[in-house]
Amino acid sequence: MEKTEQIAQIKTLMARLDSDINVDAGGFRYNPTSVYVDPELAEKESKTFFQGHPQLVGLSGDLPTSNSFLTINDLKTPILATRDSDGNFRAFVNSCSHRGVVLEEEERGETRRFTCQFHRWTYSNEGALVGIPKSEHFGDLDTNCFGLIELPSEERHGLLWVHPDPEGVINLEEQLGKDLDAELGSWNLGELQHLTQDTYAVDCNWKLAMDTFGETYHFSALHSESLNLQFHGNVQCYDTYGRNHRMLLCKRDIDGMRNQPEAEWDITTAALPVYWLFPNVQLMPGAGILFLVRAYPDKENPGKHVSQIHFYVRPDLVADHEIKEMVKMASQNFAEIIRDEDYLVSASQQRSAESGAIKHSIFGRNEPALHHYHNTYRKMLDMELLPLVEASDT
Ligand code: FES
Ligand SMILES: [Fe+2]
Repeated sequence: MEKTEQIAQIKTLMARLDSDINVDAGGFRYNPTSVYVDPELAEKESKTFFQGHPQLVGLSGDLPTSNSFLTINDLKTPILATRDSDGNFRAFVNSCSHRGVVLEEEERGETRRFTCQFHRWTYSNEGALVGIPKSEHFGDLDTNCFGLIELPSEERHGLLWVHPDPEGVINLEEQLGKDLDAELGSWNLGELQHLTQDTYAVDCNWKLAMDTFGETYHFSALHSESLNLQFHGNVQCYDTYGRNHRMLLCKRDIDGMRNQPEAEWDITTAALPVYWLFPNVQLMPGAGILFLVRAYPDKENPGKHVSQIHFYVRPDLVADHEIKEMVKMASQNFAEIIRDEDYLVSASQQRSAESGAIKHSIFGRNEPALHHYHNTYRKMLDMELLPLVEASDT
C-alpha cells in the first residue's frame, strides 16, 4: 500500500474513533436465508464461481523450489500445480491420461516425475507423458497427445492462480482491477514461506463462513475475550474494487500512534487489512506475514463447507527455532478463534436457515462488505439485487 494511502487511511480510522462514526452502507438490505440452503443455487455457484472462475490456489511460497508440487482437492477438478525444473509455475488436471486415476495423492512435495499407481504411466512436471511400461504390448501411441491436461495458470505478485477449466481465461487486471492488482503487488507476498495450515469442515454454507469476515460489529460481543483485546470493533475503512473489496480493521495499537510523526506511521500497526478476493478468499497481510482463508462449498450439501486456513511468514522473521514455534502457535490461535468463535455462530445461522423459520437476515449500515458481496454474486448469477432500504420496517 502506498505511503500516502496508508496515512490517509490511518487518519480516517482516527477520525472515526474520535467521532464514533463508522462506515455507512446507507441503509439495510434483507438477505433471504434460502441462499444458504438452496441446492439449485449451490449448483449454479459451483459452476460459475468454482469451475468457471480463476481460483487462488496458494502463494509462490507453496512451491518454494524447482520441482516442488502442490495438489488441490477442494474443487471438483483435482489440480496438480508444479514448479518445473526451470522454475515455471504450471497447473494440470491431476488425472492420468490412461484411465483417469488421480496421479499425485500427496498434498505437497518435490519431484521431477509423477508415476500413476495403476499401470505406472509416468509424466514430467511439465505435463509430458514420458513413460508407458510395456508400450509394445499396450500399442503404438503418440505420447505427445497424451500428456496431462494443462490448466490456465498465472503467478503474479506472489499469488498462484489457476483456472479449473482448461478452456478458461485468467485476466487478473480485469478480475482485480488495476488499483487492487497494484496494491497486492506492494505487499511483497512472493517472499513469504508457508508456515502452518488448518482445515476446518463446518456445518454451514460457504457464504456464511465468508460473511463472518464482512464486519467488525461483532468484535466486542462474540470476540470479547479474544480479538476485541487487540481491535477497536465497529470501526473500519472500506473500499470496493469491482467484485472484490478491502476492509481495514482498526487495531488498538493505533492509539499509540497519535503522537508519532506521520512519516513513521505504518498501516500494519494501525490496522489489519482484509482483502476479499471474489469469490472465496480472505487475504490478510501484515508486516512480513499473511493469513489466507479460503472457503469451499461441499460438493453435495449446501449446508456444509470446508475452510482452508494457511499462514505464511517472511523466512528471516522465523530464522530462530524458538521464535518460529511461537509464531506457529500464535497463528494457530488465530485460526482457532475463527473455528471456535466465528464458525460456531455460522453453523448456528445455518441451523436457523435450514429450519425455514427465519426468512431473512439483515445487513446493517455498518456492514457494507456484506451488502457488496451478496449483491456481487447475485449480479454474476443474474439474480435480482437486494435493494437498499432506509427504514427497518420496509
Ligand atoms: S490409469 Fe494411470 S497408468 Fe493406467
Ligand atoms: Fe469474527
